[in-house]
Parts: sequence; structure tokens; C-alpha cells
Amino acid sequence: MVSIRPLKKNDAEQLAILANNVNIWNNVRDYFLHPYSIKDAEFFINLTNEENPKLTFGIDYNNCLCGVVGLVKQNDIYKHSAELGYWLGEPFWGKGIATAAVKLITKYGFNELKLQRLFSGIFEYNKSSMRVLEKCGFQLEGISKKGLIKNQKLWDEYRYALLK
Ligand SMILES: CC(C)(COP(=O)(O)OP(=O)(O)OC[C@H]1O[C@@H](n2cnc3c(N)ncnc32)[C@H](O)[C@@H]1OP(=O)(O)O)[C@@H](O)C(=O)NCCC(=O)NCCS
Repeated sequence: MVSIRPLKKNDAEQLAILANNVNIWNNVRDYFLHPYSIKDAEFFINLTNEENPKLTFGIDYNNCLCGVVGLVKQNDIYKHSAELGYWLGEPFWGKGIATAAVKLITKYGFNELKLQRLFSGIFEYNKSSMRVLEKCGFQLEGISKKGLIKNQKLWDEYRYALLK
């Protein structure tokens, strides 16, 4: 059973244990810290607690925190859009959890935040994340050739979006 909920101060230890993993870091932006300490988790949780409206959520699997999913609302002429991001601790991969969590935040983004468009950019080698988005109805809109640098190498970015 998968649910999403605001992060709490006492999630910090579990969050740090899960986030401190280069196999996650290799698939996300460089501002995601590595190594990732309990202090880093506390700082992140405090930031999310200040959000109004809430945009970042812990993902629970059978009442156990297993990852994070969030939206970054865009501004100006893009204010109807948000960028979607998510990660799961490695022990929780391959159980359909990310797909369930993305479906939940998608509903929240469209119904509560009144967004019209969600999008996400996936590194070319992250086939499971592309599959997650496809299972949630996202469509591949294009490929930014050599659109990102990770681990000192250029990679294509697969850009997916979902309209309300
Ligand atoms: C990507 C990630 C979120 C996937 O989470 P998950 O809970 O394992 O995903 P799900 O189980 O919901 O779905 C994964 C799908 O990918 C498929 N898959 C896994 N490895 C694959 C591969 N190498 N090629 C193609 N499909 C693959 C699975 O079979 C499954 O599809 P299916 O249900 O049709 O069989 C998780 O691995 C993760 O957190 N990775 C590190 C951080 C990250 O990549 N975040 C996303 C950044 S965009």
C-alpha cells in the first residue's frame, strides 16, 4: 500500500539512510547531496515544512518511509506547469511504488494545485524511470541531445509531459 504525506522531523534518519546512495545520485541532479547525512535530511525536511502549498511529500510503503516525490511549480507564462521529481531507496525498487506515488502526486497537482501540465526530464540510461512515467500516461515530447552533464559526461535528456 503506497501513500504520500508531508515529511516529519523524525523521518530524518530513515531519509538519510535511503538517500545516501550513489545509485540514486547517478540519476538525479547534482544538487542532491552525496554523501547525504542526517543533518542534510533535517535541513531538507525543514525546507519542505515551510512550503505553502505543500509540494514535496514522503512516499510511504506499508507505513514505512521509502522515498520522496515532489513538484516544482514554474513561474510567469509557465505558471500552469510543474516539474515532477522522485526517488526511492534502493531496497524499494521494482515493486511498483514509484508508479503509484507518481499517480498520487499527479492527481494532487491537477486537482488541488489546479496545474495543467506536469513534466520531467530523464537521463538517457534511466529506463525504469521512463517506464514509470509511461505507465502514468506521460508522453515523450522530445529528446534534448547531450542536454545534461552527469559524472563528467554528456547525456541525452528524455523530456516527458502529462496534460490534465
Ligand atoms: C526510477 C525509480 C524511481 C523507479 O522506481 P520503482 O518503484 O522501482 O518503479 P516501478 O516499480 O513503479 O516501475 C519500474 C518499471 O520499470 C521497468 N524497468 C526496470 N528496469 C528496466 C530497464 N532496465 N529497462 C526497461 N524497463 C525497466 C520495470 O519492469 C517496471 O515496469 P513494469 O511495471 O512495466 O514491469 C527508482 O529506481 C529510483 O528511485 N531510482 C533512483 C532515482 C531516480 O532515478 N529517480 C528518478 C529521476 S527522473
